[in-house]
Amino acid sequence: GEPVLVDRLARRVRYLRVSLTDRCSMRCTYCMPSEGIEHVPRSEILSLEEVVRVVESFAAWGVERVRLTGGEPTLRRGLVWLVEQLSQRRSASGRPLEVVMTTNGELLERFAAPLAAAGLSALTVSLDSLDPARFASITRRDRLAQVLAGIEAARAAALPLKLNTVAVRGFNDDELGALCRFAWAHGATPRFIELMPMAGGRLFVPGELMPAAAIRARVGAELGAKIELGAQPDGPYGPAQYFVVRGGAHDGRRFGTIAAMTENFCASCNRLRVSATGQLHACLARDDAGDLRRAMRSGEPGRLEQVVRSALGDKRDTHGFERDGSGGPTKAMISIGG
Ligand code: GTP
Ligand code: 5AD
Ligand code: SF4
Repeated sequence: GEPVLVDRLARRVRYLRVSLTDRCSMRCTYCMPSEGIEHVPRSEILSLEEVVRVVESFAAWGVERVRLTGGEPTLRRGLVWLVEQLSQRRSASGRPLEVVMTTNGELLERFAAPLAAAGLSALTVSLDSLDPARFASITRRDRLAQVLAGIEAARAAALPLKLNTVAVRGFNDDELGALCRFAWAHGATPRFIELMPMAGGRLFVPGELMPAAAIRARVGAELGAKIELGAQPDGPYGPAQYFVVRGGAHDGRRFGTIAAMTENFCASCNRLRVSATGQLHACLARDDAGDLRRAMRSGEPGRLEQVVRSALGDKRDTHGFERDGSGGPTKAMISIGG
């Protein structure tokens, strides 16, 4: 029959983001309100066996890369077991499933080596500032030292590493060059993300959005270098665009920008996301979701596929974020998984 994972606009899904928990040890201001979010009862969270089932189905339909997210995925018990299970699976193409993870880095000192041994392919760590006071103000937690130790541990475990910085004007826009130098010194690729208006715009201050073009200009100025578009190593995968630094002390080094707001990548969107409760979101920026958990727990064969087909059938051509923060989902980033 018709392939399951191709939408009306001929976009093919190869990438699945799976949130393992709606809990996090940090409270980033752009991700959730200060009071946190209401946690859902454990019975509503997919079990690890259910996660394996979901991922197996998507792999059979052609997904090639799975990114584990949260909340904070290292808070989920059984994470290492899960990575071991998933990394032994194959995609429909016959290639081994690539299992990667995005983390706040706080517990990586403990988890980096076991995760690498379990078959994790790569890691992305969030790092918004190298200044302890700034780090504490954006994450609402004073944990910079643990995160830096976690980054060292990831490097020691030889995990390919990306660092994610949400660029916030008036907050860390004077650190973009320093964050690049830090990343390169640690064998990592720095990436700068435009602030997105999650939670119905409640966590969004329009003046804080730093457009990717301004990010690139700022990196160039801070490093005394020219910025050129570079090769795109993730091919059809990620939303990031990669750039090369030309001239100066860092000639040839690379960094990425993720410009969801000003240069959106919806036309080549290749992903679906599953929340910790098994809600299938065809787009990060919209509220509508299909219920994979109910489909699985119904015990009726074919229900899972129906939910996926219907979610993809409704997938819109572009996101619903507005520059002024008025669009986007009413859910916070932490409840969807990023
Ligand atoms: P790779 O390309 O595999 O490195 O992954 P990634 O960049 O998609 O993953 P990561 O978890 O590091 O996400 C980086 C940023 O991109 C986060 O702010 C995500 O919320 C955002 N992002 C990822 N996918 C999408 C998407 O489909 N749409 C939008 N608007 N943002 C996305
Ligand atoms: N806008 C942009 N990026 C965000 N992240 C979380 N919330 C937002 C937001 N509102 C980032 C985190 C993490 C990644 C998964 O998403 O910093 O690196
Ligand atoms: Fe936690 Fe990541 Fe959200 Fe920060 S952005 S609160 S680290 S889930």
